[in-house]
Amino acid sequence: MYTMNPTKPVILTGVRANNDIHIGNYFGAILPIVDMAKRRSTDFDINLFIPDLHSFTTPIDHSKLYDSILNNARIYTAAGLPLDNAAIHLYRQSRVPAHSELAWILDCFTGFGEMSRMTQFKDKSDKLHGDQISVGLFNYPVLMAADILLYNATYVPVGDDQTQHLEFTRDIAERMNRKFGELFTVPKPVAEQHQFFGKDQGLRIKDLANPTKKMSKSDDTGKGVIFLGDNPRVAHKKIMSATTDSLGKVQYDRENQPGISNLLEILTLVRQDAGRDVTLEQTISEFTGMERYGDFKRIVADETAEFLTNFQARLAAVDEPAIEAKLQSSEQAMNLVANQTLHRVQKAVGLRR
Ligand code: TYM
Repeated sequence: MYTMNPTKPVILTGVRANNDIHIGNYFGAILPIVDMAKRRSTDFDINLFIPDLHSFTTPIDHSKLYDSILNNARIYTAAGLPLDNAAIHLYRQSRVPAHSELAWILDCFTGFGEMSRMTQFKDKSDKLHGDQISVGLFNYPVLMAADILLYNATYVPVGDDQTQHLEFTRDIAERMNRKFGELFTVPKPVAEQHQFFGKDQGLRIKDLANPTKKMSKSDDTGKGVIFLGDNPRVAHKKIMSATTDSLGKVQYDRENQPGISNLLEILTLVRQDAGRDVTLEQTISEFTGMERYGDFKRIVADETAEFLTNFQARLAAVDEPAIEAKLQSSEQAMNLVANQTLHRVQKAVGLRR
């Protein structure tokens, strides 16, 4: 029988399954996650899961869901995730039913007011109306807490937008531990996590049309967002029409020139992806002072289009049967681990002897 090595701590994270993963998710989350998994898998169990039950907290086209879940696994693979590493677990949330069951139990110990304060719920529900605002969207942080607590994860690398959910996970774990004894491992405080993972976590690719806002899947027009599946020519156009400023000189100044600064960051990232050993500082010094924004944008657009062409070729070449096999074996293993925690909780709340 498989069990996770109890002496090995767990790092766990997930990126929601949507067909429209963008370069913000890729460079801000997926790539750092893959790097982290490769570096840390000797000392940690690495749980990379696909939060597919989280995919329809807001309305989606369900005929595309199944494929976009697999696409998520393909993207990790194209980003260099080693599928043959036994310490890395890649699994679908919906294939481990304990997630939903623990979420229900935790729901009953979560305050309505507590959930109402979640800023992501407020932001997302503001964009929806009436019955589109689902109870699932409202209590989704509880499912996220279950995702984490089932595996005794200590580290959970996520972007700033998920910090509040992580704080909630710690709160509910501590609350349950106070009431029922040591049930859960409480994940490390957010500040400690930032220290552990370094600065990568704070990285935020901005929207091209509105560069003070982060690039986001829920952007209404898609004009400011470059999706990994975008036709490279379309992406080229999006960059050529990116919002800049009227200062007329390339400078890295997040405050006063957010559009130009964002493009400098994107250019550095696509160059790094192409295997070039460049830092943001080097890109900045290469372009600082350039006066023709059109020329600068063309360079960023060309190299981003090239990145997409290469990435899409890598994606088309992934080993599908190896991905299927990895999902199956991880899911089998994770059901055993998750059920151990679930049974402990069921006993504590009086559902089992
Ligand atoms: P999701 O799918 O919205 O985002 C996945 C990760 O990507 C980060 N991110 C970004 N990073 C840089 N630049 C951007 N423009 C950008 N946009 C998004 C997010 O911070 C996140 O780290 N609730 C989670 C998924 C989840 C989860 C979990 C994560 C469910 N259960 C348990 C960790 C542990 C979410 O919706 O992330």
